[in-house]
Amino acid sequence: MIFINITFNEKTRTFKLDAKDTTYMLMVADGEYLAHVYYGRKLPDDSLISVMRFDESPFTPATNNRDRASYLDTLPMEYPCFGIGDYREPVLRITAPDGTSTCDLRYKGYDITSGKPSLEGMPATFATDDSPCNTLEIILEDKPAGLEVSLFYTAFEKLDVITRSAVIRNVSNDKSVYLTRALSACVEFDTHEFDMITLNGSWARERAVERCRLHHAKQLVDSCKGESSHQNNPFVALCEHKADEDIGEVFGFNFVYSGNFMAQAEVTQHKKTRFVMGINSIDFSWKLDKGESFTAPEVVMVHSDSGIGKMSRTFHDLYRNNLIRGEYKDKRRPILINNWEATYFDFNTDKLIDIAREASKLGIEMLVMDDGWFGHRDSDNSSLGDWFVYEKKINGGLKHLVDEVNKLGLKFGIWFEPEMVSPDSELYKAHPDWAIQIGGRELTMSREQYVLDYSRKEVRDYVYGMMKNILDSANIEYIKWDMNRQHTEVGSNALPADRQKELWHRYVLGVYDLMDRLTTDYPHILLENCSGGGARFDPAMLYYSPQIWCSDDTDAIERLKIQHGTSVCYPCSAMGAHVSDCPNHTVGRNTPFETRGDVALVGTFGYELDVTRIPEEDRNAIPGQIEKFKKYNPLVRTGDHYRIGNVFEDNTWDAWMFVAKDKSEALFEFVQVLGRPNERSRNIKLKGLDPDAYYYEETKPDEKLSGAALMYVGINIAKMWNVDGLYGDFKSKTLHFVRA
Ligand code: DGJ
Repeated sequence: MIFINITFNEKTRTFKLDAKDTTYMLMVADGEYLAHVYYGRKLPDDSLISVMRFDESPFTPATNNRDRASYLDTLPMEYPCFGIGDYREPVLRITAPDGTSTCDLRYKGYDITSGKPSLEGMPATFATDDSPCNTLEIILEDKPAGLEVSLFYTAFEKLDVITRSAVIRNVSNDKSVYLTRALSACVEFDTHEFDMITLNGSWARERAVERCRLHHAKQLVDSCKGESSHQNNPFVALCEHKADEDIGEVFGFNFVYSGNFMAQAEVTQHKKTRFVMGINSIDFSWKLDKGESFTAPEVVMVHSDSGIGKMSRTFHDLYRNNLIRGEYKDKRRPILINNWEATYFDFNTDKLIDIAREASKLGIEMLVMDDGWFGHRDSDNSSLGDWFVYEKKINGGLKHLVDEVNKLGLKFGIWFEPEMVSPDSELYKAHPDWAIQIGGRELTMSREQYVLDYSRKEVRDYVYGMMKNILDSANIEYIKWDMNRQHTEVGSNALPADRQKELWHRYVLGVYDLMDRLTTDYPHILLENCSGGGARFDPAMLYYSPQIWCSDDTDAIERLKIQHGTSVCYPCSAMGAHVSDCPNHTVGRNTPFETRGDVALVGTFGYELDVTRIPEEDRNAIPGQIEKFKKYNPLVRTGDHYRIGNVFEDNTWDAWMFVAKDKSEALFEFVQVLGRPNERSRNIKLKGLDPDAYYYEETKPDEKLSGAALMYVGINIAKMWNVDGLYGDFKSKTLHFVRA
């Protein structure tokens, strides 16, 4: 059967998948091994056999059986196994009933279907009417091990996106097999001439862009923390050395998963690159009894022939249309005020109502009550797991508070940290065995809390019951789901010894299960994910929540880097971003209120300050800031994002744009970082406009310039800004260009 964008050439046994401008090819090679052929710009050809070398390894095993090992160590593989002579990084390794680790997958068959199957119990991208796709399933088998593997490749017709996942089945008659590694994808490249771009950081400085030239051996980013982590995001791009925002070939990989992961590029002896991505195999093992299967999560692969910027825009389009769900998918999010930086734990009903009253006068639309409203929580050392109202603070009860806030015209949102338990809590006293732990070992404390064993349904049910009581007791329209510690002493009281290493993954599946129940039962509630700031900013979380708190660092200048790095892979419309008070609580910096607003409007936008106590001048500026956000939010949510400045390379200024898909308007934002002398006459080249159209800046309708001039000559920022305004660190400027 032939589908529009996936074909099989029976003669050459070659599969060809075409995404928008991308081709991916693989073939059944000698020995029935599934080999990689090509990934890159679109090709019309359905076979490349005539340009491939058959007179040398790797294509010679049939005529040279003596050298099967060198064949397997050089053949570009689609799903390489451990133990058969391919000494590069494997994606599959097992422990067989006899204790050995070798496996050997050979081609069995294929199927092509329209659309995209979902992954059981796991988030994944999906087809939509506007953005269709088709799926190739290739079935491999290892007869001695009794294993069958289905590799899924989905090619999107209107996006340069191909996704990968794998399902591994035990088809033996009676034997159990242990998977000790089950990654999701391997992609082989014929070259090592790449730079590797990764998003690394720490608490309060998440997703800093780093770029290094690939060298021989293995270059790894990973997490073994139980979450995708502040430190390394599950994203990697491999790009040509010459690639920048606008030119060069780029391959982006993002793992749709929220737990331990690994992503590794390996330059081999023959100067090729093998890239693998999947669940981290450190402390991973999965027992497959007869008839059972294991699903390896999805890897999203994006190809760009025009630089890093185009790759980012493809990720943004995919995630906005084919991953994010729910009522808020295509809607402006309510402008919220969160009390965390305003009060920390020191609040009560009256204080919250005071904030809400002032906020309502300024146009703010929702009050979010953060950490500290439950159990007897006055600091971070108690009560996680006791999801009932702390009457001393929420005097009058939750319904009273929510009703009062609603009467002021504001929606109400609430904070939970459902995966955690404090030792000082009723939950822990009743069920100490529900914490993740290893019997006989001291449990490591972090932020005075332990992690609940979410592999256990009774634990999830109990927590969900408490959450439901709260959600059903008042008109709650938003939840911030936080997660504030990493895993240690990973063990479950409910798993047998030979399944303990499944806990890391079972935990993640448990989190997905609860998020799924929550979003299904409460479709009207806007869910925002959070993890000590942005430690779980990954595509899997976007499947459940259309926005994720980007970072606990709310300083506008630090946010330039954090939001720039995040935008490399994730849409700006999903970035939780708030205007906070000064001096900033994390870095102590003072920045203009206007700049804080301009930087936050790139994301979901909101406030994180005590609006009753900020300077009057700032308070008075809020209605204008809100109007500005409302005006530009459709462009941010639906337009194309272009990064112009790069604060990682030049900390003197930053600039970016959002351009309407039909190129009829564009928002340009500029932030002066650390000013340098003699840099007044900087021309900044705009991006993404129609070169043949004419545009004017909204405040100057008589001054028209072609898109070509705006992009190839640029705008003189000092001149457009009335010179005097230019000086002064941390000032910002927004310009709105409209097609004449
Ligand atoms: C970490 C989050 O990132 C903050 O915004 C805040 O919700 C605190 N947790 C509360 O404990």
